[in-house]
Amino acid sequence: MTSTESAEHPAIDLMRAHRSIRTFTDEPVSPEAIEAAVRAGQAAATSSSVQAYCCIRVSNPAHRDKLAELAGPQEKVAIAPEFFVICGDARRHRIACEMAGGAYDQKLEGFMISVIDAALFAQNLVLAFEAMGLGTCYIGGLRNDVGRVIEVLGLPSGVYPVFGLCVGTPAESPTLRPRFPLESVLFDGAYPDDSTIEAQLKAYDTSYREYLRQRGAPEQAVNGSWSGAMASKLGRVARPALAGVYRAQGAVLD
Ligand SMILES: Cc1cc2nc3c(=O)[nH]c(=O)nc-3n(C[C@H](O)[C@H](O)[C@H](O)COP(=O)(O)O)c2cc1C
Repeated sequence: MTSTESAEHPAIDLMRAHRSIRTFTDEPVSPEAIEAAVRAGQAAATSSSVQAYCCIRVSNPAHRDKLAELAGPQEKVAIAPEFFVICGDARRHRIACEMAGGAYDQKLEGFMISVIDAALFAQNLVLAFEAMGLGTCYIGGLRNDVGRVIEVLGLPSGVYPVFGLCVGTPAESPTLRPRFPLESVLFDGAYPDDSTIEAQLKAYDTSYREYLRQRGAPEQAVNGSWSGAMASKLGRVARPALAGVYRAQGAVLD
């Protein structure tokens, strides 16, 4: 490894120190911090420079309350110092195509690009906030009823809420949630056979249980496993109405 490839770097330390923050102090987030984070978000790579996202800052308390209810309820959506809804944005593309005398004609790829771009923007945004000492929590719960989210925010066709983001000064310091070991993610040339995956999962279940025990999780959770949690989460169709709502909002999903 050369000096320019050093594996030790404050940016890497920052990324590896990430944990979601769900309780915040009342301290406001400055407009300068928001601007700096959004600019950092915009610096993320974007497919062919399409920049297929937008970010809606929600400060209307009634809208916050409604979104908090739709997301779960999740009270933090109502009371976090800042809350953003990150959206895939194909509307700007439609307008650009029309301005240039063409017509927007995208299928699933157009929707995927907008979701991928929105996620890349959001993760840069998160890292920038974290670099400023702030805490964040993504809110996928908005997709419980994304149609109502669209209504609350009055979003036009072509703008697809992907998730929300709570931001503020942390009022808690949770332990890091363990990730898979490196060898479960970084494969050399080929995907391993199922027996290897199974052995890795068994080992991860054991270490995840230990994490839950240390975190003081309820006995029921500690006695379970990560695989068990996946079985209950992924064993039933989640948010079955989603495709219909995104289609109604202008997305072509096939
Ligand atoms: C797209 C996405 C949606 C999420 N939605 C929620 C949510 O609705 N509520 C919540 O409390 N946490 C949510 N999270 C946070 C995850 O639960 C958290 O990232 C995960 O458990 C790992 O923990 P860590 O971020 O502390 O490392 C979401 C995370 C992502 C990436």
